[in-house]
Amino acid sequence: MKNVLVVSYSQSGQLAGIVAALTRPLREAGVGIHHEVLLPVPDFPFPWPFFAFFDVFPESVRLDPRPNQPLSLAPEAAFDLVILAWPVWFLSPAQPIVAFLQSAEARRLLAGKPVVSVVACRNMWLVAFDALKALVADAGGRLVDHVAFTDQAPALATFLTTPRWMFTGRRDRFLGLPPAGVDARQTEGAARFGIALAEALAHDEEKRDQPMLRGLCAVKVSPHLALSERAGRRAFRVWSGFVRCCGRPGQWRRVPALMLFLVYLVVMILTVVPLNLVLQRLAAPLLARRLAALVRHYEQPSGADDARMTAHE
Ligand SMILES: Cc1cc2nc3c(=O)[nH]c(=O)nc-3n(C[C@H](O)[C@H](O)[C@H](O)COP(=O)(O)O)c2cc1C
Repeated sequence: MKNVLVVSYSQSGQLAGIVAALTRPLREAGVGIHHEVLLPVPDFPFPWPFFAFFDVFPESVRLDPRPNQPLSLAPEAAFDLVILAWPVWFLSPAQPIVAFLQSAEARRLLAGKPVVSVVACRNMWLVAFDALKALVADAGGRLVDHVAFTDQAPALATFLTTPRWMFTGRRDRFLGLPPAGVDARQTEGAARFGIALAEALAHDEEKRDQPMLRGLCAVKVSPHLALSERAGRRAFRVWSGFVRCCGRPGQWRRVPALMLFLVYLVVMILTVVPLNLVLQRLAAPLLARRLAALVRHYEQPSGADDARMTAHE
């Protein structure tokens, strides 16, 4: 019997629903599943108080997370495959998953093991995935697959619906805008990855250094967002350094710097992001090669094509 370790963190239950749908076919196929839900110390609040939300920005960007409680696993536990399910916080993997990947436990559990990454976020996961790949490699894991779930509503709508969800816990329809987050159809669709993994495990495919989830629309990469995210990452590094100079997490001394960052963020979202998208479209012929290379980079390893979709729907 094959054994799979699932490591996840989900505040609202969105990612928990995706993990449940993905692991169901594995359980039905007789694969042993051990699910570790990460527990930060102290846990992050949800819904988020306003200051607490922005206060996690600097340490999220700098990959300097709050620690987690030790895992519940027996020290000698070993697995054939590891599934990491993570949200994005400020263009970085969420702190609990970073804390796990930086831990001695992760180095022991991931050493030489194939790792499948599952992200669910608003719609900006690209540069966070770069960081995640580096963390998995540092822990000794082999990242063989990556699947991404995003909010399918228009980006402008999600700039309102996602903060409302984070600050109030409510993700229902409001002001005529679609509900926030990954919808039920996409969530249930995660089962196709579980079916494919169960088939792959039955044929020892996890032992090869190849993706097992190709042909299943694992990701959809917007090249324009890739450029915006890269610019955002550079700016976030500067801002996070500045805020950290002002004080440690939770200290009131940080508030003015965080409020300045908030003003910057709102101005960016309202002006620079749309302007950037317009400029990118105008410059599309000049940028074509660069954008195509970015798409190829971020579509690795599992790809965007749907060649096996009918078999798994
Ligand atoms: C502090 C914080 C920062 C976030 N930053 C981003 C982001 O940069 N990009 C993005 O697409 N989603 C972002 N999100 C949304 C999350 O990735 C995720 O979709 C949401 O928190 C729900 O996940 P859950 O399963 O933990 O409830 C952020 C959420 C939080 C709480």
